[in-house]
Amino acid sequence: MIEIIIMLLVAYLLGSIPSGVLVAKHFNKDLHQEGSGNTGTTNTFRVLGVKAGVLVLCMDLLKGTLATLQPIVFHVQGINPLIIGLGAILGHTFSVFDHFRGGKAVATSAGMLLAYNPSYFLIACCLFIFFIYVSSMVSFSSIVSSPLLVIISLFYHDWILTIVAVALTTFIIYRHRTNIQRILAGNENLVPFGLYYRK
Ligand code: G3P
Repeated sequence: MIEIIIMLLVAYLLGSIPSGVLVAKHFNKDLHQEGSGNTGTTNTFRVLGVKAGVLVLCMDLLKGTLATLQPIVFHVQGINPLIIGLGAILGHTFSVFDHFRGGKAVATSAGMLLAYNPSYFLIACCLFIFFIYVSSMVSFSSIVSSPLLVIISLFYHDWILTIVAVALTTFIIYRHRTNIQRILAGNENLVPFGLYYRK
């Protein structure tokens, strides 16, 4: 039991590393005050450009991957790695190093899936990229891909994966509530490519 608590704590602290905030500081910028105000990967791309965006994407993915790998690497039985991964997602969204603020859970969740099930991760990436291309909106893609991944999880016959996918979908949609308002109002931020952007 103590190993599980330590792994959850490590996962939470790892997830809490405010990658976007740290990288933005390097550029003398505050992501809370710019773009969407989000400290995640999308707003980093928007405010700081591609290089910083890729760096934060890798860091946020890695947080989820490393946290989830703990029970596998340390051979701890009796806990599903996804449960440990959730600790990193909690840290990423409510960071102890950033006044309990954070991102919208997408990149760190993807990192968790990469560690847990690479084929499911690849499907998630394909869906995510497809919906960004169709809508030119990262938020729309996050909101639509998540419930579809719940359906796809059923084909893996892994009930913990499905339960975690349902929980994450609910959480991700909740974290995107201001994006949903902007999408409905027709003024959500667009990425400079994709079908919708060209119109
Ligand atoms: O993963 C976050 C993304 O879906 C939306 O980010 O900055 O456009 O609110 P943002």
